[in-house]
Amino acid sequence: MKTIRFGIIGCGLMGRELASAAARWCHLTEMDVRPELTAICNRSAGAFDWFTRNFDTIKLVTHDYRELLASPDVDVVYCAVPHHLHQETYGATIAAGKHLLGEKPFGIDKAANDAIMAQLKAHPDCFVRCSSQFPFYPAAQRIGAMLEARAFGRILEYESGFLHSSDLNPEKPINWKRVIATNGEYGCMGDLGMHICHVAFRAGWQPRNVRAVLSKVVTQRPDGKGGLAACETWDNATLLCETHDPATGSAFPWTLKTFRIAPGETNTWYISVKGTKACARFSTKNPRRLELLVYAGGEQNWQQIDMGYQSAYKAISGGIFEFGFGDALQQMFAAYLWELEHRQLPRPFAGCVTPEEVALSHRLFTAALESQKRTAAVPV
Ligand SMILES: NC(=O)c1ccc[n+]([C@@H]2O[C@H](COP(=O)([O-])OP(=O)(O)OC[C@H]3O[C@@H](n4cnc5c(N)ncnc54)[C@H](O)[C@@H]3O)[C@@H](O)[C@H]2O)c1
Repeated sequence: MKTIRFGIIGCGLMGRELASAAARWCHLTEMDVRPELTAICNRSAGAFDWFTRNFDTIKLVTHDYRELLASPDVDVVYCAVPHHLHQETYGATIAAGKHLLGEKPFGIDKAANDAIMAQLKAHPDCFVRCSSQFPFYPAAQRIGAMLEARAFGRILEYESGFLHSSDLNPEKPINWKRVIATNGEYGCMGDLGMHICHVAFRAGWQPRNVRAVLSKVVTQRPDGKGGLAACETWDNATLLCETHDPATGSAFPWTLKTFRIAPGETNTWYISVKGTKACARFSTKNPRRLELLVYAGGEQNWQQIDMGYQSAYKAISGGIFEFGFGDALQQMFAAYLWELEHRQLPRPFAGCVTPEEVALSHRLFTAALESQKRTAAVPV
């Protein structure tokens, strides 16, 4: 078993999630690499306590990410910082010759993403991937396998979405995700959008143009100091893309929704593929359930299959046990380390988002902003 030493820049919500996934690596049965957390970096000191209490492998605790990048005890860096810091921290990680697993949107805007891509071009030995864990749910993996086998026939329609209600309460104090300077002009698209592009881009589908309808719903929030602060970012986005499938040479509509204000939804990620030979849909709202319609002539029947723990990277969990967010994140980290070590994937859908896929998402969201401004469809 090879040990890969990793450091975390940004010890907030996602920094802890990834560390926790690494801490129960014994859950996975066929991995020949394992991560070891050796260094952590965060702006404020309060976040360190949980890490140092739980990981006795940590050798470096710092407020300065440059110190972490200079450490010989770090091979891989997981960066989970607010979006305005992506260009600087991801660029510096690559320049330091470290491998990078970065959080989305991988640059606050297209210019920042272009700069990260240029840095990567100058350091092709760095293995760089973007985080996106939902396609690792067993039902989504099954849909991925069907896409790999071209089981859907000609694609008629694709829908993907990520719906939150975390900003439904107007009394919730403002945070960095509601401010353009820290979250970016993309708003909810930067925050949630890469998650719902991953499957489509891995299928090879290319959005040609986009018509976007973006909404700002809550315009100000408590600033935590007794006053009110302006909410600058888009809360909800609906995109309709004319999308090309190179496998069949045909085009189809793809509807994407990223909502931060979707009543009744907490963290609902969904995909729905409709094709001439088969249809499939999955939503994390009902995380066991895969719905399938296979059409071979005759009656059309939707089947409902309760998926168990059929993961891309094998685990100790019984085949009938439930799979959840923490499992998806661990599978994603397994995919990253597997591909880093072997430079290939067991299957295309068992992989993290590539830099090229991220760059395509930036072209799509930049075109969506332009579409909203011009009230028109815009080429991607
Ligand atoms: N994959 C997912 O499901 C998912 C979910 C939420 C957020 N994210 C992404 O993860 C990233 C971080 O989001 P989060 O929700 O964990 O945010 P967070 O606010 O919980 O954590 C960010 C951390 O970065 C630290 N930080 C800020 N500036 C820093 C600096 N200069 N150096 C070192 N540390 C610094 C902050 O102190 C904080 O602890 C974002 O890119 C976000 O889009 C991904």
